Amino acid sequence: MPGPLIRAKLGDRLIVHFTNHLPANTTVHWHGLRVPNAMDGVPEHTQPAVASGRSFTYDFVLRDAGLFWYHPHVMSAAQVGFGLYGALLVDDPADGLRTLDEAVFVLSDISIMDGELESPTSGGDLASTFGREGTRVLVNGRPDASLFVRDGAPQRWRIVNAAKSRYFLLDLEGEPFLVIGGDGGLQERTERRDSLVLAPGERLDVIVAPRRPADGSPLVLRSGLFDRGFGSTEFRRVESLLTIGFADLPRYAGAMPTPSVRPLEALEVAGAKRVQLDLTFSNADGANQYGVNGAVFAGEMVLTAKVGETQVWTLTNRTHWSHPFHLHGFFFQVLDEENRPVRPLAWKDTVDVPFDRTVRIAVRFDDRPGMWMYHCHILDHADIGLMGMLEVRPAR
Ligand code: C2O
Ligand code: CU
Repeated sequence: MPGPLIRAKLGDRLIVHFTNHLPANTTVHWHGLRVPNAMDGVPEHTQPAVASGRSFTYDFVLRDAGLFWYHPHVMSAAQVGFGLYGALLVDDPADGLRTLDEAVFVLSDISIMDGELESPTSGGDLASTFGREGTRVLVNGRPDASLFVRDGAPQRWRIVNAAKSRYFLLDLEGEPFLVIGGDGGLQERTERRDSLVLAPGERLDVIVAPRRPADGSPLVLRSGLFDRGFGSTEFRRVESLLTIGFADLPRYAGAMPTPSVRPLEALEVAGAKRVQLDLTFSNADGANQYGVNGAVFAGEMVLTAKVGETQVWTLTNRTHWSHPFHLHGFFFQVLDEENRPVRPLAWKDTVDVPFDRTVRIAVRFDDRPGMWMYHCHILDHADIGLMGMLEVRPAR
């Protein structure tokens, strides 16, 4: 773990011959990719679950450049949470950034107790309500990862948060990050930040130029304490993710690249259909559950849309925990309280909805009719009710 990095070019056709060697049913979901509905990997809704010993061929065209990832969509907290995930990098040879050194970082964590994988249900109901975080943080599957660089040389890092519950709040001892993109590829323009937050499922594309500290010590990429609600910064510690060592070469003296990045257009939302989704919490017969608009697994509610239509979804978090909201199949843009697009424009498929807050998104159903899922990407939350379905109907 993680699974192999699948690397391809924009416009390539990807064919994955998948065989299930687990003792349980599974599927593969291609997180963030605009695949045809039948390739989305959601059992019952897009394909039958792949039984133990059986195979399935995933076959689709890569329509967007960016860092995506793949993971099962069966018993997700258990299967994804204990190591079934990998990154899928789609390069755009025309993006003008091909000369930089680059790295892909799959961030995650895992729970190990006495040398064994911990039970995915340890801690019971309360742990599900909070979302179980692993006891060890991992970078590309390793604890105590390291990287060796040339002092000051710009690098392109593409980062995915594949953890089942943990948010990563990254800092590089004050070295700045130049954000150039996220979930759905390059954004409208660059943004300079001193730290980065990645909620479960999210990706970031950044340029960094790590410099050797004056005292000669290595530089450490750390993950700090991020408040995702209800005392979540207690009983936790700052984690070291990556130790950066420096090659015995003179400091890089060239300029930092200043990409203008990618022209994007704001979705037109005047007259768009409005959808209100409340993210809710309930306790029935002593069991904690999440839900949508008060109903566990959204109850009977199936959202509907037509191909070609744009909708504005208002996501109101009525719980005391934050929820990274993920929509399958379609990218969206985040809007502010007045339904104006948040700048710089970026395509996203996962957005954090902080506790007690509201987030608005605009989504255009470009094509690909079918049944699509939306859910919280804290997989323990999804498993206890924070998910629902959307039916996209063909235009007539
Ligand atoms: Cu990473 Cu249902 O998705
Ligand atoms: Cu959640």
